[in-house]
Amino acid sequence: MRVYSTVPGVSQRSLTQREKDALEPMIRVDQAGEVGAYYIYKGQLAVLGHDKKLGPILHEMWEQEKQHLERFNHLIGEHRVRPSLLRPVWEVAGFALGAATALMGKEAAMACTEAVETVIGNHYDDQLRELWGFKDHNQQLVDLSKTVAQFRDEELEHHDIAVQHDARQAPFHSVLKAGIMQGCKTAIWVAERV
Ligand SMILES: [Fe+2]
Ligand SMILES: [Fe+2]
Repeated sequence: MRVYSTVPGVSQRSLTQREKDALEPMIRVDQAGEVGAYYIYKGQLAVLGHDKKLGPILHEMWEQEKQHLERFNHLIGEHRVRPSLLRPVWEVAGFALGAATALMGKEAAMACTEAVETVIGNHYDDQLRELWGFKDHNQQLVDLSKTVAQFRDEELEHHDIAVQHDARQAPFHSVLKAGIMQGCKTAIWVAERV
């Protein structure tokens, strides 16, 4: 895999219109996704926050989602991107998904995390490839690419933590996982646009 920090020199140019047009839906959907993730963990914590084993793990992942969201809040401002108009939907749907799966049990909560982080990890990976497609990166493209690469790695860590904590022992695991993954993909499609 290409290591981003080895790219020599940073162009002083500003973003082209084509780049701005490409970055706008990326930053919009990423902020919306981090809103969703923040609320999924919040919903899980509402149910499982006092669980001796899972509580601290969920708290730690929630803290990371907070940092992800703060970073994209900043990028929304910096790039003057219109945020998703559906933010209240992402908040409610995220919380409901997190709480509902947690109520089904610890394994189902972890299966939810496994599914969500699979989709988000792949989504960030696709974005990173798109960003690498731009030539002659300026500082903004360097910064965004670093952010996306870092967050992809952290989402995939969340995925691995969920699998280590028995995600695949959840009842109806494959159906649950497939359903949540499809929901996340649909949400991504919508949040890029609305
Ligand atoms: Fe995240
Ligand atoms: Fe995550």
